[in-house]
Amino acid sequence: MIPDAFIERLRDSCEIESIISSYLTLKRRGRTLTGLCPFHSEKTPSFTVYPDSQSFYCFGCQKGGSAFTFIQEIERLDFVEAIKLLAGRVGLELPEEAGDDGSSRLRTRILEANRAAARFFHEQLIGPGGSEAYGYLTGRGLTRKTIRTFGLGYSPDSWDALTNHLTGMGFNKRELIEAGLVREGKKGIYDQFRGRVIFPILDLRGNVIGFGGRAMEDGKGPKYLNTSDTPVFNKSRNLYALQAAKGVKSDALLLAEGYMDVIALHQAGFTNAVATLGTALTPDQARLIARYAKRAVIAYDSDSAGQNAARRALSLFSGLDLTVSVLEIEGAKDPDEYIKKYGAQRFGTLIEGGKSAFVFEIDRLKQKHDLETPDGKTAFLNEFCALMADISGEIARDVYIAQIARELDVGKDRLSAATEAIRKKRQGSRGRKQADSLRPYVQDTRPSEGRRTAVDPKADLSGLAAERGMLALLMQNPDYYGEIQSKLTEKDFADPDHAAIYQALRIKLEEQAAPDLALIGPYLDSRQMGIVSGLLTSGQEVKYYREQAEEFLMAIHRQKTDKSPDELGKMSPQQLKEYINTRRAAKS
Ligand code: UTP
Ligand code: MN
Repeated sequence: MIPDAFIERLRDSCEIESIISSYLTLKRRGRTLTGLCPFHSEKTPSFTVYPDSQSFYCFGCQKGGSAFTFIQEIERLDFVEAIKLLAGRVGLELPEEAGDDGSSRLRTRILEANRAAARFFHEQLIGPGGSEAYGYLTGRGLTRKTIRTFGLGYSPDSWDALTNHLTGMGFNKRELIEAGLVREGKKGIYDQFRGRVIFPILDLRGNVIGFGGRAMEDGKGPKYLNTSDTPVFNKSRNLYALQAAKGVKSDALLLAEGYMDVIALHQAGFTNAVATLGTALTPDQARLIARYAKRAVIAYDSDSAGQNAARRALSLFSGLDLTVSVLEIEGAKDPDEYIKKYGAQRFGTLIEGGKSAFVFEIDRLKQKHDLETPDGKTAFLNEFCALMADISGEIARDVYIAQIARELDVGKDRLSAATEAIRKKRQGSRGRKQADSLRPYVQDTRPSEGRRTAVDPKADLSGLAAERGMLALLMQNPDYYGEIQSKLTEKDFADPDHAAIYQALRIKLEEQAAPDLALIGPYLDSRQMGIVSGLLTSGQEVKYYREQAEEFLMAIHRQKTDKSPDELGKMSPQQLKEYINTRRAAKS
């Protein structure tokens, strides 16, 4: 990984306008420069360069980002390759993988402390003080062997057991704090994990990079506590148990939601299971999976949160070189429970029958509409054709269309023609459609007749608009993050791209770094960078205030409890009454 300090140095040695103008002709117009977009064909320039924020944004195709993003896009390189190319051009020397500055020494010390902590936790678990925790794990069906294989442990219910142990071994306060093993309070440092079952997290080389800790009873703090990001741990770039799963002779990886699912799966013989580390799947993790597997099988919880997360994961996998399917776990809340109830064999058949991404989506549409009524059927078919229009392979498109045509007894040619029409139309209007979705926060600075007026952000504040507003606000005012932090997580975002952007911003904000375009670049894909630049562009026109953070927060949380008219129609009078009451309470 390239250190942030180097990225910053490179950023400061590159002028975005001179980099871009070596590829296309730019014309200055006030504080900005415009030109014909190199990423889509156009006759009037909508490609804009903002020297002030060292960014670019195209109002036509929504591509945008930093100078690095521009090089990535135009030269078709990944982030690191783009950095290397630019560094070469401006004559900066790339740092060695681990430079022998203090930071690499600190990393080594943190890894040593983590290893010692893992050993300590494991010894506590198998020692006399760990009988309750040990009983908890065996009570959940884990064998001795599994407990050993995963190096599970127990952190005593004490403020200083680990602190004393590691200090006695010669680790100093700073090392322990940086490792996330202890926290600093008014009266000194104290153990981060207390009275919890411990799941050590390993990287691909077998280093202990962090921990998850589960409370043994409900209501005693959060159910799981995870190490926050440290110099050796980045939870959005690692996967639990990948180290064990990657060597398995299978071309598939099973992606579960939690630690216990993964362990139960491995114990049942599915040693290709991995999980994210307390957050939703990130683009980096999706790419990581694609690197080690030809096939990903999503085995998330069966509740609606799990299924929504599965849809987000699907969208992150799209565009990567692997096939994806989604398991439908019926009769149990998650893989762990399923295997306990129905056994490993039946779980195996579940995997064989995993639904492809499109079948999953088609089934969702079927549930959404009442196929018994003509109106419901029409609405379904419209959405179905729109979905089919997303499939680039002609054969796959035909297969699905033929199947639905048969099932619903409609002409196959009709459906094909409708799908084709949508594809044609999209090719022409894709840019405009996406631009509309950003509209409330993006001011068109083109003086041409195509100019749109900025919409008052307060008018019609939809959940998605609030999500964009929140991101724009945070980029403009990083200091508001302190207040927002505890009230908003990635999971609150309905749009997976927004969730990913929030996550990237948080990584920087938590490091107390400015959420600069160049620094969040490595965490986002090009579409997401486009969205960020769009927001940044709008931020130059709109000034956000502290009170707006509250409004955005409310609108974001509100959308999660909003029910569609369809859903309302299906409620009993009693349910409806309760729903209205909760909404009233939420508003007051
Ligand atoms: P779940 O609540 O589904 O837990 O959260 P689980 O894995 O099924 O665990 P058990 O079976 O109740 O013990 C799924 C994952 O979300 C993260 C953890 O990584 C967990 O494994 N999580 C959950 C947290 O990080 N914090 C929490 O408070 C809860
Ligand atoms: Mn679960």
